[in-house]
Amino acid sequence: MNPSGGLFWHLHAWRSQKRWAPTRADIAQWLHSMPAHWTSSGELLIVGASAGWMMDSVWLRGFQRVTTVDIDPWAANLFRRRHGAALKACGTALDCHTHDALTDLSQTLRSHPGAVVLLDNILGQLRFHHPSVSAACTQITQVMHSLHGRRWGSLHDAFSGRTQRFPRGLGLPAMQRSEQPTARPASDADQYTVDLGHFSQGLRAEGEWLDHLTEQLFPAQTPVHHIAWPYSPRYCHWLQAGWVGA
Ligand SMILES: C[S@@+](CC[C@H](N)C(=O)[O-])C[C@H]1O[C@@H](n2cnc3c(N)ncnc32)[C@H](O)[C@@H]1O
Repeated sequence: MNPSGGLFWHLHAWRSQKRWAPTRADIAQWLHSMPAHWTSSGELLIVGASAGWMMDSVWLRGFQRVTTVDIDPWAANLFRRRHGAALKACGTALDCHTHDALTDLSQTLRSHPGAVVLLDNILGQLRFHHPSVSAACTQITQVMHSLHGRRWGSLHDAFSGRTQRFPRGLGLPAMQRSEQPTARPASDADQYTVDLGHFSQGLRAEGEWLDHLTEQLFPAQTPVHHIAWPYSPRYCHWLQAGWVGA
């Protein structure tokens, strides 16, 4: 059983498209913030692409070739169905593969030497794929080492948990952009806290939230986008997303 993909995930994503639309729009905005010259590498490698439920076809069309990898046997066909026609229409080649991309990520990366790599909402899920927190942390660290010297981005869960019911007319907090706290001079630290405090209050969290173990992922000074994802009516994920140069 795949704890972060599979049939249940696809059904849930299909039914949730309307509720997730603002999150998809925020993610599209972040995707388009990738340095423009990176598309000149020609290829995008998406790890954990699933069916691309949260993916923006328009952004994909900037590449000459899009390669997806997911361990979920449903993912490749569904990704082709959702994005294949839009990519074909503008001449972008699409290859969808089904295998474990993380156990030997270095090998997968060697097969796509110039590609920009997108870890697409996979790293925050790894704690569900391992029997212990330390095993998940070890794999996240290995992934980061493998990416050294590459152009890559990651969208991933930072925290998730229950929320209060949203009063009518009051939406989720808008996307926020911040530097990593360690990258900030001391005088700016308060500003950072205030920004994210505003964001996290907007999530209307209830009870304890789950830590998805991705705190150390980005190098210092990476601009990070914070995005709310109302996974179900009273359960929300706090996503973080960033681009890292070679
Ligand atoms: C939350 S879903 C990703 C959602 C996707 N980005 C979208 O827009 O629909 C996480 C995905 O990671 C995949 N995954 C988990 N471990 C994997 C691994 N070792 N190799 C490849 N894919 C993996 C799961 O099968 C699942 O499809």
